Amino acid sequence: MPTTLIQNGTIISSEESAKKDLFIKDGIISLKNAEETADRIIDADGLLIFPAFIDCHVHFREPGNTHKADMESESCSALAGGVTTVCEMPNTNPPTVSIQNLKGKVEIASEIPNCDIRFFFGVTEMKHIDQLSDLFTKDEYTELRKRCCGVKVYFDNSTGNQKANEEVVEKLFEIASNLNIPVVAHCEDAEINDASAVLIKETGIQNHSLMRPPKSEIVAIEKALSLVRKYGTRFHVAHLSTAGGLSIIKKAKKEGFSVTCEVAPHHLFLDEGDYVRLGALGKMNPPLRKKEDRQALLEGVNDGTVDCVSTDHAPHTLEEKNAENPLDAPSGVPGVETLIPLLLTAASKNQISYEKIHEVCFVNPNKIFNLRKEEIVEGSKTKIVLIDPNKKVVIHGENLKSKCGWTPFEGMKVMGQIVGVI
Ligand code: DOR
Ligand code: ZN
Repeated sequence: MPTTLIQNGTIISSEESAKKDLFIKDGIISLKNAEETADRIIDADGLLIFPAFIDCHVHFREPGNTHKADMESESCSALAGGVTTVCEMPNTNPPTVSIQNLKGKVEIASEIPNCDIRFFFGVTEMKHIDQLSDLFTKDEYTELRKRCCGVKVYFDNSTGNQKANEEVVEKLFEIASNLNIPVVAHCEDAEINDASAVLIKETGIQNHSLMRPPKSEIVAIEKALSLVRKYGTRFHVAHLSTAGGLSIIKKAKKEGFSVTCEVAPHHLFLDEGDYVRLGALGKMNPPLRKKEDRQALLEGVNDGTVDCVSTDHAPHTLEEKNAENPLDAPSGVPGVETLIPLLLTAASKNQISYEKIHEVCFVNPNKIFNLRKEEIVEGSKTKIVLIDPNKKVVIHGENLKSKCGWTPFEGMKVMGQIVGVI
């Protein structure tokens, strides 16, 4: 295999970031023994080098909804965005609620190059919990369970209608605790959402945020935390969107509970004011919130309350998004390819550090979901991303590789470009 020498780049790590040469032979990284020459020499002066990123919340739609996206198209999108490991959600068709269905997805994923796709198991009924237990206890599934990064549960319906009732949720928290696997939850309270929705009589898209109000997220998190207190479950809040939810999590963490959370770029970089421009392209669950929430979430990232930034990459076709009544359009936006450029742009404004980006898009998801990815250290085989932090780019949906061909960040000027993944 040809050798590669990458010179003068700045390697970002959780220890200390530093300019170092990197020598790669047979896919193995060496920092100490960088030889003078190699078959390929890359001058990385002015470039940042990260271990390739992890997006721990994506929907790749396969099987069942491949008109929106598929594993191959979305993996290309991920790679273009510097992401080579993703955790994929169970709301496909069929959903990932059985060992057989998980096997089917793992088989498709094994043919996909350049992206390590892990899968969340889904639970909507008691019998799915039995399947989950079998997966994590029976010897015959030792290999298969390595592809499963945890279990996902919905407290209210979203795309794919996977809401679980309270009895199922409680049993799941108990069993997942015994199995020591993380429970990721979509935290919106169904009763509050239903009661809020009936009050809305108009069709404007901005009503989406009123129909799924902040209180809904807060109550859902509180209910889940009461189960964490009872069973000690490892609990992860998906796509946290509110300042209120954040402060509850901050408190629970201080009390020592095993709770982690993630925020999505759309909740960090967009708010309700963007509905005017975006229409239904700004519709997702949980919905866009206020500027103050955005601000609080960014603070949460920097003070360590927020563990991961992950995209909830959820492509739908433009045709579906252009429903006559925007409130009938499906919820969800793509994001895996724009995650890192958006965070680098925040870094260019001193809102976040490169080390923090590494932490929330690599170190923490790697740890929480036990993905077994390596840092850039002597002898590791990790994929690396070269980034030019000073390159200006304008985001255009038509240039992105996701099958859906659009982005809620259309026209946004970002600072930072993925130069390559090795
Ligand atoms: O906006 C969303 N889209 N939220 C979800 O919970 C699901 C996702 C999807 O799959 O479309
Ligand atoms: Zn999601």
